[in-house]
Amino acid sequence: MNIEGGIDSIMKRIGVLTSGGDSPGMNAAIRAVVRKAIYHGVEVYGIYQGYAGLISGDIRKMELGSVGDIIHRGGTILYTARCEEFKTLEGQKKGIEQLKKFGIEGLVVIGGDGSFAGAQKLTEHGFPTVGVPGTIDNDIPGTDFTIGFDTALNTVIDAIDKIRDTATSHDRTYVIEVMGRNAGDLALWSGLADGAETIVIPEADHDIDQIISRLQRGQERGKKHSIIVVAEGVGSGMDFGREISERTGAETRVTVLGHIQRGGSPTGFDRVLASRLGAKAVDLLLEGQAGVTVGIENNKLVHHDITEVLQRKHSIDLDMYRLSQELSI
Ligand code: F6P
Repeated sequence: MNIEGGIDSIMKRIGVLTSGGDSPGMNAAIRAVVRKAIYHGVEVYGIYQGYAGLISGDIRKMELGSVGDIIHRGGTILYTARCEEFKTLEGQKKGIEQLKKFGIEGLVVIGGDGSFAGAQKLTEHGFPTVGVPGTIDNDIPGTDFTIGFDTALNTVIDAIDKIRDTATSHDRTYVIEVMGRNAGDLALWSGLADGAETIVIPEADHDIDQIISRLQRGQERGKKHSIIVVAEGVGSGMDFGREISERTGAETRVTVLGHIQRGGSPTGFDRVLASRLGAKAVDLLLEGQAGVTVGIENNKLVHHDITEVLQRKHSIDLDMYRLSQELSI
């Protein structure tokens, strides 16, 4: 959708919210939205607690100073929530009523696919939205990277480096379960970056017998420790650990990294990505675009229709997966 008109003639007041699981860099994106809008002479209202705050009207005006000193902070100053009520027509109507009450004419939604589904609904009801991909899972089509993925990746790498030290000292096998929901990006990238012996991801079939024989081959040539990275979308790391321990006899430990992966100061990459995507979202809204998501592809800012993005299936670079196998023979 593209409405004719100059930036000033389209909107005077926009809103911004974060929704779903938080991710490092969301604050940098909020900052970019607020500053870019004010730069264009447009007022910005922050909606707290995601769609839950939209329904209840937890909405406050933001100024330049509201987003000072946050670019380096993890989490989200607007807070976030997963909101079941907004999945209903009634919830969506309540949200639109609040937007009207506050005179908000367009909305930037920062979050993952669940958040985008809410934004799509608002657009279907005639309310302009732009989605900014923020999730550590890197599972949103239409962008090479989501905000927070790089930071989470580096958190996982740091953790695996530490685990490798103790795995080496004790001659142990370690199974490390990483987040990603149904996507294997965090597992694949961290496993490749850490030289894991085995990476198990939902996007590629795995054979436990092959994993065991690979470990046994390693044991036969004197290898005493191994790192196995398992994406949570494949199943429980504990189950993998138990089976490996029983079948190889190797002393095995399991670490579930959990929510540590969602916190921390965003990396430089995530701060820059968030700043670029947040500012682009404002430009698109003010140009009259609605029902689109922003993204980065080959280091260029792009936008796509939100319905198309939600319909597309997330994919992974299988060449990278094959490379990880080739390098860990
Ligand atoms: O989508 C981000 C994510 O951290 C996933 O990797 C994980 O499966 C999920 O959220 C955990 O959700 P919650 O914080 O609700 O436990």
